[in-house]
Amino acid sequence: MELQIDALNKRYGALHAVRDFTLRLEPGILGLLGPNGAGKSTLMRMLATVTKPTSGTIRFNGSDAGKSPDALRRTLGYLPQDFGIYPHLSAVEFLEYIGALKGIPRRALRSRIAMLLEVLNLTQAGSRALGGFSGGMRQRVGIAQALLNDPRLLIVDEPTAGLDPEERVRLRTLLREMAGDRIIVFSTHICSDVESVATRVAIVNHGALVAQGHPSELARGCASLEDAYLRIVAGARAAA
Ligand SMILES: Nc1ncnc2c1ncn2[C@@H]1O[C@H](COP(=O)(O)OP(=O)(O)OP(=O)(O)O)[C@@H](O)[C@H]1O
Ligand SMILES: [Mg+2]
Repeated sequence: MELQIDALNKRYGALHAVRDFTLRLEPGILGLLGPNGAGKSTLMRMLATVTKPTSGTIRFNGSDAGKSPDALRRTLGYLPQDFGIYPHLSAVEFLEYIGALKGIPRRALRSRIAMLLEVLNLTQAGSRALGGFSGGMRQRVGIAQALLNDPRLLIVDEPTAGLDPEERVRLRTLLREMAGDRIIVFSTHICSDVESVATRVAIVNHGALVAQGHPSELARGCASLEDAYLRIVAGARAAA
């Protein structure tokens, strides 16, 4: 399985949100790190085939996702950054609804929902209305919906936002356990989120890929990945 991104660009009028982005992804966890407005969400929306690139291609197992998105969409799990909920539905009702949209058979869906609620520490809250959930609980429901169809390609945009340290560690462990034969793209501002779990880190700044490699490779010669990240982003700013 591979996801090949070639010379990808996205422009919003005069704003060049993603610039000439080229990267080949294989199974593992890619941590996307970058400051606010760097273009992470725009890139992820294009990978999830929600937004069309201005130019460039995304190929999933050799097939152009712009021309034939079905193969990618069938095996996609996506958590958008601005994940909306239905306040009057319970967590279980919401997940049943999303599962039905994804075409998951009812029996399989029931057991999948029970398992996901368990690993995301939401079993007790399953029948409560989402409107009364805390931010971190909503975020975990968002992660559950992304995992419903057991996706091979999982794109999670800031999945740790709003999670407390214990839940953050739980989520990292879950992603690490899932990684094996999946491509996971995970964006965050928090270096420690990706330091321990990412097999590869891509640093994005002003829409461009400015550095990439294994976290320990990127951190070489620096005190930590965070230190390397701050230097790279500051260097790119000075050069701009
Ligand atoms: N639909 C849109 N229309 C116009 N401009 C947009 C749109 N979406 C994003 N942008 C702009 O594109 C740039 C990249 O935004 P994007 O949301 O991809 O960044 P990000 O790295 O995800 O930031 P954050 O860390 O804050 O989530 C920003 O300047 C943003 O204002
Ligand atoms: Mg974003």
